[in-house]
Amino acid sequence: MPAGVEADFRSPFSGGGGLVLGRKNVISAFYAGLFYIASILLVVGVGYKVFRYARTPAPLKIPVSPAPRTRTGVVFRMVREVVLFESLFKSNKWIWVFGYLFHFGMLVVLLRHLRYFTQPVWWWVEIVQPFGIYAGFAMLAGLGGLLLRRIVQERIRYISSPSDYLMLILLIGIAGTGMLMKYVEHTDIVQVKAYFIGLLNFQILEIPSSPILLIHVGSVALLMIIFPVSKLMHAPGLFFAPSRTQVDNAREFRHEVKWARNLPPLPEDIEQKKEG
Ligand code: HEM
Repeated sequence: MPAGVEADFRSPFSGGGGLVLGRKNVISAFYAGLFYIASILLVVGVGYKVFRYARTPAPLKIPVSPAPRTRTGVVFRMVREVVLFESLFKSNKWIWVFGYLFHFGMLVVLLRHLRYFTQPVWWWVEIVQPFGIYAGFAMLAGLGGLLLRRIVQERIRYISSPSDYLMLILLIGIAGTGMLMKYVEHTDIVQVKAYFIGLLNFQILEIPSSPILLIHVGSVALLMIIFPVSKLMHAPGLFFAPSRTQVDNAREFRHEVKWARNLPPLPEDIEQKKEG
């Protein structure tokens, strides 16, 4: 373990005394296995899905207008989409408010969590720390609003599937247990940090046995496992959506996907210019 984690945490699975399988050790080993499996499934699953998105042909020009006419314009459109949720803002102000509160809150919370995985903690992660307090509330308020909308609005309730509720409830569970640890039932965060830095170094230390922490990190592992097969794949998927990423130049160039190049040529009097 890197120097500087302010405690002497020795691994129950190493040292001269041999392996002692106490309850705490079993829990620590279980969570270690869970996190290794969850990390592999997350990386391989998302990687595979992104590979498939990238290879899916987009046979038609379908940018949602008004659409940019150049590549640079598309880059700006994507930046506005990712940073401001522009198209959501145009279509529904309430979902935008709740969606933005949730996503932006979660971003700050996740940046704040980097302190559990780095030693020494990066300077900019230290700067983020105080904002994390408000971010946790923003995240919960956003998630609560999105869930309420699904339950209260009949039109949305009708099209909601169990997985829509599951993702919201899982995220509320993670944020809720996090806030409980912060404000009500504190856990030993130095030991939490030692445990996760240990895992990064393939060493299993002792995880604090506080039930709230175990529910918090257990739910995180579950989220990592189902992420690649869930609607949360909209995050990487956005970058492969032809309706947002295509240049609106159908009048200037003939749009071709690879397999269409093998089709018979157009009649001679129709001028063909290839898209650059
Ligand atoms: C393995 C990964 C994670 C670990 C080890 C972890 C651990 C913790 C701990 C120890 C706290 C209490 C902080 C304190 O007492 O000051 C906390 C709080 C919190 N966690 Fe996590 N967490 C993890 C992942 C996540 C994820 C993925 C989310 C969100 C999707 C999340 C959301 C929160 C929130 C909202 C809080 C309360 C606000 C805050 O302290 O920032 N956690 N987490």
